[in-house]
Amino acid sequence: MIRKNPRLRLGQTERQLMRAAGKFNAGVMDHIRPLVKAGVRTEAIDKAVYDFTVEHGHTPACLHYAGDTTPYPKSCCISVNDVVCHGIPGAYELRDGDIVNVDLTTIVDGWHGDQSETFLIGQPTAEAIKLVQCAFDCLYMAIDALTPGCRVSTIGETIAPHVKNNFGYGVVDKYVGHGIGMQFHQRPNVPHVPTQQSRRDRLDAGMCFTIEPMVNLGTHRTRMDTRDGWTVRTADNQLSAQFEHTILMTENGPEILTLTQDGPQKGHCFSV
Ligand code: MF3
Ligand code: CO
Ligand code: CO
Repeated sequence: MIRKNPRLRLGQTERQLMRAAGKFNAGVMDHIRPLVKAGVRTEAIDKAVYDFTVEHGHTPACLHYAGDTTPYPKSCCISVNDVVCHGIPGAYELRDGDIVNVDLTTIVDGWHGDQSETFLIGQPTAEAIKLVQCAFDCLYMAIDALTPGCRVSTIGETIAPHVKNNFGYGVVDKYVGHGIGMQFHQRPNVPHVPTQQSRRDRLDAGMCFTIEPMVNLGTHRTRMDTRDGWTVRTADNQLSAQFEHTILMTENGPEILTLTQDGPQKGHCFSV
């Protein structure tokens, strides 16, 4: 959802505020990390996100976030297996073999940090682990391809051929990365496949945006759950994986604002 007309190129003071928001958000991810395991209900993870965020005087951006039909009811998104994104935490208990994306966004002093990770629960299949690795590598390959002033399409031009040629998986095009700042979602759209608009848009120094590729084992097509108005699943109910960082483009290249202490770092190899 794109609103108003934010100033996209941030000065040094605003960049520091985005750094602080990203760093806090990453700390939330590290805080809930030990909970993401078999036997835990996804609503327990959501509660931990809410409590930790509010205890530190900050705000979960997802809570009551306006959608097309209904406001989002929880403090984060937790998307299990065939759920592509916007899974609503609830009574579901994580189980051995699940792959589960936890997507966190915090408002810190008016500025947003947004990131997600896909976690392996116990021992997923080799096929599932390969998919998670692919989504993780897509995120870092795209970041590594960025230079100040590059086209937004650099991201899609890196991810789409890599996935198609080496895996044959589906790259979701319906849901995209986004500019981020004082607004959760702002210009430009950051698609993970090349588009006409992304070939026109640029990533100039001072801009903040997310990269958040969703990669599906089968079809790239998705279906929204009309009962809750949020949950997005793969059209063929095969697995989907995603990773997300908030990035600041500097005069020297991209800076990842949402690096965790304890999570998988660039080059990480997923295995069980
Ligand atoms: N965090 C998601 C993103 O990466 C957006 C979630 S919107 C919500 O853009 F309302 F579902 F929380
Ligand atoms: Co997110
Ligand atoms: Co995002």
